[in-house]
Amino acid sequence: MSLLTDIEKVRAEFDDRLQSAPAGDDSFEELRIAFLGRKGKLAGLFSQLGSVKQTERPLTGKQLNELKSYVTERLSEFQSASAEAPEVVADIDVTLPGDPVPHGSIHPVTQIENEVKAIFGRLGFSVFYGPEVETDRYNFEALNFKPDHPARDMQDTFYLGQEQLLRTHTSNNQIHAMEQMDPPLRILMPGRVFRNEAINARSHCQFHQIEGLVVDRNTSMAELKGTLTYFARELYGPDTVTRFRPSYFPFTEPSAEMDVYWGLDTERDYRITKGTGWLEILGCGMVHPNVLEAGGVDPDEFTGYAFGMGIDRMAMLKWDIGDIRYFYEGDLRFLTQF
Ligand code: DAH
Repeated sequence: MSLLTDIEKVRAEFDDRLQSAPAGDDSFEELRIAFLGRKGKLAGLFSQLGSVKQTERPLTGKQLNELKSYVTERLSEFQSASAEAPEVVADIDVTLPGDPVPHGSIHPVTQIENEVKAIFGRLGFSVFYGPEVETDRYNFEALNFKPDHPARDMQDTFYLGQEQLLRTHTSNNQIHAMEQMDPPLRILMPGRVFRNEAINARSHCQFHQIEGLVVDRNTSMAELKGTLTYFARELYGPDTVTRFRPSYFPFTEPSAEMDVYWGLDTERDYRITKGTGWLEILGCGMVHPNVLEAGGVDPDEFTGYAFGMGIDRMAMLKWDIGDIRYFYEGDLRFLTQF
């Protein structure tokens, strides 16, 4: 057992005893003698310093000195606090329960967002945030949506006058990220998005997405599949089965959607998976060369892959929440359940 370990033990013991010591001069004296006295714990440790290996001695000595000033300081704080402590009034019933202190809780959407960030964090992704108020260029044009492209109809946009709009997806961040940073990039971009949709239990005019973007010299569809399969297994468990279906997005080529096998055991499974057992959880693909170019990245040198997922629905699935509107009403009776 090294002396360093003993030092930490003595520190922990001191903290313990100090915390439980009743205020007063007697406690102070008792602790002072036990730790700083001539035959106290610290003297004991100092006497062992001679037998520590030469190479470890400077560090051990330093730690020991630190412990000594720590104990000395804490004790003198304790002494002055004791001196100021008011006399205990005998008729306070200390066994009465305290007043509850209201505390907040983490929004379910934020919880999922944090979980996703943590998983991709372990794969080396960092987090990047872009604006919610956007221009057509970042939300559509630079993402390879041509002006009359029918894909623009996929998303009902809120326009703010002529120039600006509320972003309809977090893919706008792809362009900002490429403009602001040089590749290689490996980033996760969470945020709120807006679509002019009727509000009901299943859809809302605002919701949340997390976008992912990797730009590097040798990325591939294989890496995309490996990364996203790993993600699904981290999120839903190691036995999670996934599949990729070909799809279409203007900003990726080829494009795909990833499903996880949810199961078909209960009535709820039927409802959620529309009787297929499969659940679509994200869209993805290899970044279109036009998009790389729009972001100032040379498509002859770099390739990229991207993915995007909706987190409100993930939270609804996790906690069996039947109505997306709860997320935006700020009702504490709902929020404090998570
Ligand atoms: N932006 C798409 C949406 O809002 C989601 C998406 C699909 C993002 C494919 C991507 C992607 O990055 O590669 O539905």
